Amino acid sequence: MADLDRPLSLAPSTPRRHLYSAPIDSRTPGDAVAGTAKGRSTTDRWTTTSTKDAMTSTQDDALDLAELARSHLTPVLGRYFERSWSHGVGHRLFDTAGRAYLDFANGIAVSALGHAHPAVTAAIHAQVDRLTVPTMAIGYSEPPVRLAAALAETFPAPLDTVMFLNSGSEAIEAALKLARRSTGRPAIVSFRGGFHGRTFGAASVTSSSLNYRRGYEPLLPQVHILPFPAVYRDFGGDEDRATATCLQALRDLVASVVPPETIAAALIEPVLGEGGYSPAPAPFLRGLRAFCDEHGILLIADEVQTGFGRTGRMWGFEHAGIVPDIVCLAKAIANGLPLSAIVSSRDLQNRWGRGAHGSTFGGNPVACAAGLAVLQTIREGRLVENAAARGSELTAGLGRIMAEDDRIGDVRGPGLMVGAELVIDRESRAPDGDTTDAVLARCADAGLLLLSCGVQHQVVRWIPPLDVTPAEVLEGLEIFADALGSVPRRTETRA
Ligand SMILES: Cc1ncc(COP(=O)(O)O)c(C=O)c1O
Repeated sequence: MADLDRPLSLAPSTPRRHLYSAPIDSRTPGDAVAGTAKGRSTTDRWTTTSTKDAMTSTQDDALDLAELARSHLTPVLGRYFERSWSHGVGHRLFDTAGRAYLDFANGIAVSALGHAHPAVTAAIHAQVDRLTVPTMAIGYSEPPVRLAAALAETFPAPLDTVMFLNSGSEAIEAALKLARRSTGRPAIVSFRGGFHGRTFGAASVTSSSLNYRRGYEPLLPQVHILPFPAVYRDFGGDEDRATATCLQALRDLVASVVPPETIAAALIEPVLGEGGYSPAPAPFLRGLRAFCDEHGILLIADEVQTGFGRTGRMWGFEHAGIVPDIVCLAKAIANGLPLSAIVSSRDLQNRWGRGAHGSTFGGNPVACAAGLAVLQTIREGRLVENAAARGSELTAGLGRIMAEDDRIGDVRGPGLMVGAELVIDRESRAPDGDTTDAVLARCADAGLLLLSCGVQHQVVRWIPPLDVTPAEVLEGLEIFADALGSVPRRTETRA
């Protein structure tokens, strides 16, 4: 039962002694999922806080935050689960009943180092006692200045200048404004299926779902949304055809619709995120770079989801051997604290003009202190390399499951940004969002958090933390295989 009078529960400041094995709870379906994992029963997967240690509640009086939220929290937000979360430790997220879930959702690729990472937590604590207020408009503070320098070190020349903002959408807004102001051109090109955020400018270049656009028109004018080379979904698996067709669409645009000298920027995710975890083929990105160079168009890489080692390289564009003009960062940048950034050459931001853009909260010192700890941990822990190695294991494991179950139509994506697309059958390739939903629900019941993406949410997205272990990859694969196996096969196609 929800208890409105219960005081707010606060996270303890020291890591808690928290794990012991406990039986799966009565709400967890024990049918096809239970006891089928190789070498381990499903019940072993559950860990829970002891009653004494439990931060917010015990299993008997678990806070139902969904019920509490119903009265006053906005109903506009979409969410994958109606579960109530208490706290996170390492790679486990705990619900208010004390159950632990292997967290491969990470707040949608945000907590890339898992929960309460000691280095990040220590950096936050230290900064909280020193200075919390943003000082960007009245001078300088150490964390943003140092983080800008540390970030710049991770980029190839000439990308050396950083502006901090607060969210992915704000980074996109800033990139679009920088492109328009510095080129004096109005038009923007983006790609179908792209998700760039929900503010007006960002929504204008987004096309991963009509829900982000419907009812908000008129959106930003002079945005041209061209086909993205989604190799499996739109081009039958033919990468060459995808590349050729989508580059031709660019050429057609400037041949008969939009004069190229009026285009400020082309904006692209190196791997389509929300739109279905579909990597842009390297030859396409190289062709896009060449097209932009030919016409004086700025190339903006939206690395909000792909950045910080997620794809097995520090930045997703590195896979194609190109250098964008502007890069947008957010999500993993501060392992959960709100922070985002754009990075470009100094020359480009000099041309923006003093006072042409700004942000009250952008570059908050606590968030930037966390960001410094994130970068240091990624570097010292060799986590980009870990993402590549664990990503290969994950992809190979999904390939083995795919060999046994033809409802997986495709497994794709670099590093730890892997999509497994579910279809009614391989021949029709009809997307199967219903089965995906059912599988994700069963995974959660069995203690694994996975999310979906794709226009019909038919793609299971795998975004484990960058420091995930081989054992955790295996654990996730086993739960997923059991969950998929337990969902009855559909026969009819989705309406
Ligand atoms: C690629 C990409 N760009 C932009 C955004 C928008 O970020 P935010 O939700 O922080 O505004 C997202 C968020 O999921 C994203 O995945």
